[in-house]
Order: sequence, then C-alpha cells, then structure tokens
Amino acid sequence: MTNIILLGPPGAGKGTQAKRLVDERAMVQLSTGDMLREAKTSGTEMGKRVADVMARGELVTDEIVIGLIEEKLDQGASGGFIFDGFPRTLKQADALGALLARHGAGLDAVIEIQVDDAALVARISGRFTCRTCGEVYHDETRPTKTPGVCDNCGGTELNRRADDNAEALKTRLMEYYKKTSPLIGYYYAKGQLSAVDGMAEPDAVAAAVAKVLDKR
Ligand code: AP5
Repeated sequence: MTNIILLGPPGAGKGTQAKRLVDERAMVQLSTGDMLREAKTSGTEMGKRVADVMARGELVTDEIVIGLIEEKLDQGASGGFIFDGFPRTLKQADALGALLARHGAGLDAVIEIQVDDAALVARISGRFTCRTCGEVYHDETRPTKTPGVCDNCGGTELNRRADDNAEALKTRLMEYYKKTSPLIGYYYAKGQLSAVDGMAEPDAVAAAVAKVLDKR
C-alpha cells in the first residue's frame, strides 16, 4: 500500500497524473476539489456554503476538507491513496499526518509538480472535463477525438469549471503561494519531498512520477 501527495499549483497536472495512477496502480484518488464540486452539484448544505468561496478561487475552511478526507480514509484503500489538492495548508498537513497515523499508515512520498505560471494560465483557460467519467481535456493540447464526445466513456456532457477564469485563477495562484507553497519546505524537512518537471509532456511527467514511486 502506497500513500502519496501530489502537490502543485492550479493546473500543474495533479488530476491528470492522479487518474493515470488510479488506472496503472489501482490506487484511490482523493481530490478534495472533486469532492467539494460533488457536494455543490448535489445541493448539500455544505455544498451551498462552499460554492461562492470556490467560485472566487479562495480556500474552503480546513475543518470542512479535513472532515471530507477523514471520512474517505475510514473507508480504506488496499492500493493506497493519492491525495490530490490536499493538504493545502500547514494545518491540513498536520491533520493528515495524524489521521494516517491513526490508521497505522504513513506517507510514502510527496511529489511536487513544478510548472511555470504562464503555462498554468494557458492550461486552465483551455481545460474541459467529462462530467460522466472525469477525464480531463484541453482545447489545444488534448482535444477529444470527436468534438463534444469523451474519448474515454462516450459521454457528451463536457464541462468547464466555474473557477477556470482569469480573475479566479489570479486568486487561486495567490492562495497557492501564500498558504500551500510553505508545504514544500515542510515536507522537504521531513525528507519526503521529490520534485518532477511538470512542464514536460504528460507521458514524461508520468514516467518521472513512476520513478519516484519505484525508487521507494
Ligand atoms: P482543485 O479542484 O483541487 O483545483 P486546483 O488545485 O486549482 O487544481 P486543478 O484541478 O485546477 O489543476 P490540476 O493540477 O489537477 O491540473 P489538471 O490535471 O486538471 O480545487 C478547486 C477549489 O476547491 C480550490 O480553489 C478551493 O476553493 C477548493 N479546495 C480544494 N481542495 C481544498 C483544500 N484542500 N483546502 C481548501 N480548499 C480546497 O490539468 C490542467 C490542464 O492542463 C488540463 O487541461 C490538462 O489536460 C493539461 N495538462 C495536464 N498536464 C499537462 C502537461 N504535462 N502538459 C500539458 N498540458 C497538461
């Protein structure tokens, strides 16, 4: 069982790489962004509370996201967990350490995906996903083979996120540098951090991630 964190700014490719690991290594992806969007869509009380915060690109409270992760950890995963977009603050990082310890587990690697800011803007502004299976596409670099149809599941509901606009992205990047980037030093000091070049093609990034995991 392997537990890893994929760390990186909005648009770094965390979701893209997490989905590959799910397919290739039978790990379970825990994306707090996906969980919060699901809560929004299903109209739960919590979903209604976080909708505006997410649309602005700000972080949701630590208590809410830690609660979501706690629930999922209790369900277990034999292949291990990929934490995608969590933790995002030092408080969340401490909470994750404590939750894993409670399950007799730990973190095997923290992989920082490094991407230039200019590339992030281009990636986010062209991104769309399949509402049915979550497959991630891009207008220029990864369009669907048939326009309007998901290559993976044939779904026809292709969706753009409400926070994928220039103004919200500015806030998301600021939140990342202010609150999340300190985690790089936090995990480096624990000897758990590895960095990969996220500017490379997705296959090359996947190979770099695999190298980190196989080296353990
Ligand atoms: P979340 O959903 O986690 O969004 P994010 O961190 O901003 O990350 P993204 O999903 O935008 O990007 P990604 O790194 O997964 O990139 P992707 O693979 O899609 O969070 C959304 C919001 O929820 C937050 O703003 C906050 O409000 C709230 N939230 C979530 N977690 C929280 C937490 N823990 N605490 C508090 N609040 C929280 O790729 C992007 C695009 O690039 C795609 O089009 C893809 O095809 C393309 N691409 C990917 N890799 C490459 C590559 N190597 N080369 C070229 N293109 C590539």
